[in-house]
Amino acid sequence: MAQPQAKYLKDYQAPAFQISHINLDFSLNGKNTSLVAVSKVVRVGDHAEPLILDGENIQLQSVKVNGVPADFIQSAGKLSINTQLTQFELEVVSKLDPESNTSLEGLYMSDGAYCTQCEAEGFRSITYFLDRPDVLAIYTVRIQADKALFPYLLSNGNLINSGELEGGLHYVQWHDPFPKPAYLFALVAGDFDLLEDEFITRSGRKVKLQVFVDKGNQHKAHHAIASLKKSMAWDETRFNLEYDLDIYMIVAVDFFNMGAMENKGLNVFNTKYVLADKASATDADYHGIESVVGHEYFHNWTGNRVTCRDWFQLSLKEGLTVFRDQEFSSDVGSRAVNRIHAIKVMKNQQFAEDSGPMAHPIRPESVIEMNNFYTVTVYNKGAEVIRMMHTLLGEAKFQAGMALYFERHDGQAVTCDDFVAAMEDASGIDLGQFRRWYSQAGTPEVIASESFDAATGTFCLTLEQSTPDTPGQSDKLPQHIPFDIELIDADGNSVINQVLDFTQQSQEFSFTGFNHKPFVSLLQGFSAPVKLEFDYSIEQLLHLMRFASSEVAKWEASVSLFSLCVWQCVDHLQNNKTMYIDNRIIDGFKGILLADDLNEALMAEILTLPSAGSLIEQTDSVDLDNLEVARQFAVLEIATACEDELLTKTRLLSSQGTAEARALKNVCLSLLLKVDDTHRTLAVKQFETADNMTDTLGALTALNAEQSSEREQVLASFESQWLETPLAMDKWFSLHATYTSAGCIDQLEKLLKHEAFSMSNPNRVRSLIGVFAAANTFEFHRLNGKGYQFLTSAIIELNKVNPQVAARMITPLIQFKKFDLVRQDLMKASLQQILAIDDLSKDLYEKVTKALS
Ligand code: TRP
Ligand code: ZN
Repeated sequence: MAQPQAKYLKDYQAPAFQISHINLDFSLNGKNTSLVAVSKVVRVGDHAEPLILDGENIQLQSVKVNGVPADFIQSAGKLSINTQLTQFELEVVSKLDPESNTSLEGLYMSDGAYCTQCEAEGFRSITYFLDRPDVLAIYTVRIQADKALFPYLLSNGNLINSGELEGGLHYVQWHDPFPKPAYLFALVAGDFDLLEDEFITRSGRKVKLQVFVDKGNQHKAHHAIASLKKSMAWDETRFNLEYDLDIYMIVAVDFFNMGAMENKGLNVFNTKYVLADKASATDADYHGIESVVGHEYFHNWTGNRVTCRDWFQLSLKEGLTVFRDQEFSSDVGSRAVNRIHAIKVMKNQQFAEDSGPMAHPIRPESVIEMNNFYTVTVYNKGAEVIRMMHTLLGEAKFQAGMALYFERHDGQAVTCDDFVAAMEDASGIDLGQFRRWYSQAGTPEVIASESFDAATGTFCLTLEQSTPDTPGQSDKLPQHIPFDIELIDADGNSVINQVLDFTQQSQEFSFTGFNHKPFVSLLQGFSAPVKLEFDYSIEQLLHLMRFASSEVAKWEASVSLFSLCVWQCVDHLQNNKTMYIDNRIIDGFKGILLADDLNEALMAEILTLPSAGSLIEQTDSVDLDNLEVARQFAVLEIATACEDELLTKTRLLSSQGTAEARALKNVCLSLLLKVDDTHRTLAVKQFETADNMTDTLGALTALNAEQSSEREQVLASFESQWLETPLAMDKWFSLHATYTSAGCIDQLEKLLKHEAFSMSNPNRVRSLIGVFAAANTFEFHRLNGKGYQFLTSAIIELNKVNPQVAARMITPLIQFKKFDLVRQDLMKASLQQILAIDDLSKDLYEKVTKALS
């Protein structure tokens, strides 16, 4: 069989034909579903090439040009139509089998409802078409189906027609006035509960809002619809952007590959990001819903009204829209906590991607399977790049840049360069060097050093940058790095708070007028997506934890402090010395619990001590076995020393009803249970009396750390209570997946056969298998290789069922470079095993071959 081939950004060519209008006529009838697609095709420019359409797995019935059977050739993934006409009507008739489609791409079924997922290249498995984002057409869609089984028939835009037909059938017709690329097409047919509301836009237009959920779940849709209204209002005030259709629909489905999809006027959502009530959803779930509803809504302008020229430009819409949803969450919630979460994603996941075999710039240069590039690099580093522009320009000029971008490009399919040009032209700020952030892969490393000249009172900071080689890229040039610093005096006063323009390979910055050497806080708030190397002393970090003016900087100092003490313990172990922790560090963390000027949410973040995964990301090669012992020791020492304070906090907070209080209480509870078994009664009591899922899960998480009869009891009780609630069972599966005990894998093997588990449902698969591989670091990497084998078997099974999900879960297995050679060999053997299977998907092929090359 031919091996999958890469496509290159440098080979981009404008389309040879455009399709201005398309009429789709669906007869939904299970395995005998049919589709008639009629397109208005226009030849672009003076050429005699045939019309070449994309299509995968289509049962083609007929092809006509201007009503006459066409001269065509079908080949792998293509349909080539021979014609000399410059303008014509094309009719393609095909049959579809949505019932057998387990890939959840194209037209498929979720719990008895028809739905579609077309991004990135799913439309081509619905009909032959120019399936590329720079072909924008006006869609008119007719849907016909059984009325009793499928009372709701939905598509993009406005409803223009509907009626009854013989044989219990009915039909509807939708028209979307906005030209759009095929990836934004959507169709849904099913029976749902409907929650309705409305929003009046700033200019006074009334918009109907509808959220469709599975029967019996209407009461769980209120938070989603409230989040939608909040998003609409926020985009008007902060970005001056209004909604453009008269209706906005959201449909929640249980079978979905990702979080949600921004189809024009008809978003399709994973139920995880819609359904919530106090009993079944945590505070984090509520927050996730608000941010994903916002994200998809914000795409209406950044993605839909202005879309991507080609898929290499994905970050044009995703980086920008993540930036917008982060700003939304920060404006309506805690800016510091949101920033901390974004920083964790960058340091724990994106840095890992950058140093692994799939490293790519935020605008990739070559792609085998586009679905593999919906990554933390394109999304989250992409958002950091937008954030840096925002830092360099300031809010006013940034908004002027956005306005110019829409003025120039509304209705177009454009490039990342077009976006930067708008920012540059509107602000007058040169972004020439800055553009390298789009083309260079890898995380720049910044080495900082400080010196102080007491005679002149001058503090001097030297910064040096370099970016390591990544697959296919070497000899990288310096980046334009906005480098945020604060200088604090010995009394804790802020003396300087400034963003340095760091553009050279090596650069010196001096500050005068100091009587004593100041304390410096570097790269505050993660002002650029770089790795910082600086030898902070314990003294310095404690000073920053107390006095840094930014809450994020306090948290960053606490992360450095804990990391420093873990690495010291690893060093002790490697040199056969007894581990110990400097008392100042213990007192530093105790001080957090006693501080009266810190809010609860920030305390919770600081006391959530850095995970094993995040510690691994701080090194190039890791001694995993010693890290496990060292981290456990450090956590235990800190928790033990703070036992009284933790108990006091837990009691104090247990009666308070805010999300912040719950967060802190649950962190304290987890730490307490590490100190002494007798504290288990506290967790059991919390489990038994909880009236919300955050507290239920907080108790379960604390008890899940160790083997005990209490653990078994609460897990069993949770299971019987929530067996019929899939999203709650996902939490139960994830608890087993993060269990850090030798019996973990055996339990997981058994759970694969649990009645609530299914390999065909991505949420179940992720909660059991994905969470294990990504979050249970030490169990996954056990030297007996059982963790790798568990993941490998699952991936091999999923390759047939759902290639996208299979490929997403392989990430921890391809990032093997930091581990010892024994583990590396085991991981590579697993990858070889995957490479050897028949019918390996393009998705897995790309990742596995890149990892093994
Ligand atoms: N565009 C979607 C978003 O960012 C992402 C998405 C949803 C997606 N479903 C997908 C990407 C399937 C690839 C494949 O919100
Ligand atoms: Zn998106």
